[in-house]
Amino acid sequence: MTTLLQIDSSPMGERSVSRKLTEKFVNTWHKSHPDGKVIVRDLTALNLPVVNGSWIGAVYTPAEARTPEQTKALTLSDSLIADLQEADEYVFGVPMHNFGVPSSLKLWIDQISRVGKTFTYSAAGAKGLLTGKKATMLLASGGVYETGSPMASFDFVAPYLRAVFSFLGVSDITIIAAGGTAQLNTGEVDPHVFLAPWLDKVHAHAAHQA
Ligand SMILES: Cc1cc2nc3c(=O)[nH]c(=O)nc-3n(C[C@H](O)[C@H](O)[C@H](O)COP(=O)(O)O)c2cc1C
Repeated sequence: MTTLLQIDSSPMGERSVSRKLTEKFVNTWHKSHPDGKVIVRDLTALNLPVVNGSWIGAVYTPAEARTPEQTKALTLSDSLIADLQEADEYVFGVPMHNFGVPSSLKLWIDQISRVGKTFTYSAAGAKGLLTGKKATMLLASGGVYETGSPMASFDFVAPYLRAVFSFLGVSDITIIAAGGTAQLNTGEVDPHVFLAPWLDKVHAHAAHQA
């Protein structure tokens, strides 16, 4: 059985563009994986904590030497990492906030980027441990940041996500970035008209996920 991990991070609920894209991906994916399992995580509902000194101390203490408090401090991180280890594929819905990822997603990345669990160091350098996985990042931004556009260098979402997940061992990464959602706020563009080509693109990509 193939397992898909769906992670949404937009606080905009029904009005979110990135959530509509992940919904489309999952619906299409289900058709080609009728027995597949989908693990859904809404980061805006998890109230994730920032990593603090105790957490970092626990991470860098060998598992067998951790105090019960240190083991407890890593429980949430362990469960979020278990999602990533269980799933074969990941799909992320990511709104651009202040040219970067939303804070809930950054907090999640801080929880799941753990030496000895999702990456390791060897004489040859860092090595990601989330190998054999595929990731699809479905981005939404008010502005347009396509390669060659005037604002392209302000996009710290796509390059950041690609760097983090490559570092963690995910080699098959697809990014679809729906730029220009600001047009929806003025009412001059029909949301269905705006969304249609992006939903088609997501559908075509999801339909080709083996
Ligand atoms: C707090 C906040 C910060 C934002 N920062 C940016 C930004 O830096 N650049 C941009 O193009 N759009 C920005 N936007 C607009 C969002 O990227 C846009 O509304 C997008 O559709 C969000 O995805 P969502 O619809 O899935 O929530 C921001 C929106 C919010 C709420």
